[in-house]
Amino acid sequence: MSSPANGHPSPPRRGVRIAAIGATVATFVAMIGVATSTQASAAPGCKVDYSSSNWGGGGFTGSVKITNVGDAISGGWTLKFTFPSTTQKVSQGWNATWTQSGAAVTATSMSYNGSIGTGATVDIGFNGTYSGTNTAPTSFSLNNVTCTGQPGTTTTTTTTTTTTTPGNPGGGSRVDNPYAGSKVYVNPDWSAKAAAETGGSRISNQPTAVWLDRIAAIAGTSSSRGLVGHLDEAVRQAAGGTMTIQLVIYNLPGRDCSALASNGELGPTEIGRYESEYIDPIAAILARPAYANLRIVTIVEIDSLPNLVTNVTPRPTATANCDVMKANGNYVTGVGYALAKLGAVSNVYNYIDIGHHGWLGWDDNFAPTAALLYQAANASGSTKANVHGFIANTANYGATTEPYFKIGDSVGGTPIREKAKWIDWNRYVDELSYAQAFRQQAITAGFDSGIGMLIDTSRNGWGGSARPTGPGPTTSADAYVDGGRIDRRIHLGNWCNQKGAGLGARPTAAPASGIDAYVWVKPPGESDGASKEIPNNEGKGFDRMCDPTYTGNARNGNSMSGALPDAPLSGQWFSAQFQELMKNAYPAL
Ligand code: BGC
Repeated sequence: MSSPANGHPSPPRRGVRIAAIGATVATFVAMIGVATSTQASAAPGCKVDYSSSNWGGGGFTGSVKITNVGDAISGGWTLKFTFPSTTQKVSQGWNATWTQSGAAVTATSMSYNGSIGTGATVDIGFNGTYSGTNTAPTSFSLNNVTCTGQPGTTTTTTTTTTTTTPGNPGGGSRVDNPYAGSKVYVNPDWSAKAAAETGGSRISNQPTAVWLDRIAAIAGTSSSRGLVGHLDEAVRQAAGGTMTIQLVIYNLPGRDCSALASNGELGPTEIGRYESEYIDPIAAILARPAYANLRIVTIVEIDSLPNLVTNVTPRPTATANCDVMKANGNYVTGVGYALAKLGAVSNVYNYIDIGHHGWLGWDDNFAPTAALLYQAANASGSTKANVHGFIANTANYGATTEPYFKIGDSVGGTPIREKAKWIDWNRYVDELSYAQAFRQQAITAGFDSGIGMLIDTSRNGWGGSARPTGPGPTTSADAYVDGGRIDRRIHLGNWCNQKGAGLGARPTAAPASGIDAYVWVKPPGESDGASKEIPNNEGKGFDRMCDPTYTGNARNGNSMSGALPDAPLSGQWFSAQFQELMKNAYPAL
C-alpha cells in the first residue's frame, strides 16, 4: 500500500483496500516506491491452507488462509508461493497486494491486516486464470520463512519489499460519487421494449438497471444478453468517456422470504451455489481488464436483510420463510460474500438495499436494520470498506418528497405523526428524508462517513389527475394527510403493480445532500408479480398482494392490494403498467 511518506496521495475517502494486479494487467501497474522493513521474530512459524474452485472456462478463485503458529507478527508480512505452471495467473485479488513474476506469486499485507497474533489467521484470496490443469502450489513462505505448520528456529529477517499500487486504467481508486460527471448505461433490451410502446420513445433513452436475477442471467437468457453482452455494450456506449452501469445482484438463497412473487431459484440452504455459481462468476467477469474503465454500481440483494428485522417471530408480520432465513444465517453470509467478492474489484461500487420509509421508518425497525447491515458488511471476509452506500425505495412506490405535509406538522394541537393513520408513528413521510436519516444512522452503526445514498425514482412520481395540488383540510389529522398526500396508495405496505403510480424524477446525479443519485433501478414496465397463479421454472410464486381482489394481510394493514389486474410474472413486460406509469408521470412527460 502507498503512504503519503513516499509521495503518493492519501487513499480515497472510501478506503480502497484492493489490489488488482497480475500478469494480465501488469502493463497498468505503477511502481511507486521501495520500502525497507525489518521484521524480527523469535520463533516464526506459519501454516497455509490453500484451496481453489474452478468455474469452467479457465477461471478460478484461490483462497489462502494464513495461520501464524509462531510469534506475533506486526508491521506487515509477505507471503510467497510458486504456481506449478506458468499458465496459472492471478488476475485480481483481495486482502493483500498481489504481484506475480513468471510463476512466482507475492502477496503483501494491507494496512489493516499487517499484524497477525500468535494462533491468529488471515484470509486472503484472488481470482485467476489457467489452462490445462490447475494444480495447487505446495510450498509457501511467510516473511521468507517456509511454512511447515511448526514454529521454526530463531531468526531475524530483513526484507526489502517492492510496493506497487493497484493497476487499473480507470484509476484503481473509487470516486466519491460514481454518477457525478458520468453517462449511465441504457439497457438496449429494456429500451427496445419501451420504444415499442405508444409514446414510449419519450423515455426509452433513460438508464435503467440490469437485473441479474438468476444464474442463467449471467450467461444470458432468451430475453437478456447476459452480463458480458451488457458490459461490452456499456464500453461501446461510453465511447471513451466515463460510463456507469447499474447491476442488481438478486439471487440469495430463500429469496424474498416475506412474499411469493419474487421467490428465486435457490432454496434456503443453497448458499454454496450462490457463492460459487452466482457471485464468483459475476466477480470474475467484472474484474476483466476490458471493463476496468467502467464504474460498476452493484445494488446488493434487495428485500433481504430488512426482512430479518421486521418479518420474523415474534412480530405479527412474521413469515415461516423469514424465520428460516434468520435462523440459518444465509442472508447475512450471502450479502457479506457478495460485498467481499464484488468489492474486491476496484471499479465496483456496492450499494446495499435499505427497503423504504414505509417499511423501516419506524423506530423499532430503523436502527436494528442499520446494525444488521453493518454485521453483514463484516461477514464472510468482508469489511465496511466494501460498502459505498445504500439504496432506498428499490422497486417501491414511496414519494421522494411529500410536498404538502411534513412529519412535524400538527392538526388541532396533536402531531400528525401520532394521529394520522397513514403515518401511524412512522418517523418519515417520504424517501428523501428517510434516506438522509438512514445515512446518518448507518454512520452511527459504524459505516464510513463518506457513504452515499441512491433513491429509486422509477415509479414514485404520483402525478396525473388524482395528484393533490395543495394541503388537505385541517378538520382532522387524517383529512389533512389523506387530502394532501401525493402517494395515493391504499396502504403504505402495498407494493405490487400499484394503480395510479407514475414515473418519478428522471435519473439525476447528486440531486440532494447525501444522495449520490436518483436512479431507475426497477425498469418501468416490468411486472412486480402475477395477479394469478402462473406456472414457471424461475421459482416465482403467486402472491395475492398482486391480485386486485385481495383484501390484505398483516403487512399491509389488511387493506386492498391496489394492484393492477392481469399482470404477468414478476420481471415480465406489462404494457398496461408501462402506460399507467407514463400517464401519471411527475414531472409529466
Ligand atoms: C423479479 C425479477 C426482475 C425484476 C426487475 C423482480 O421483481 O423477480 O425477475 O428481474 O423484478 O423487473
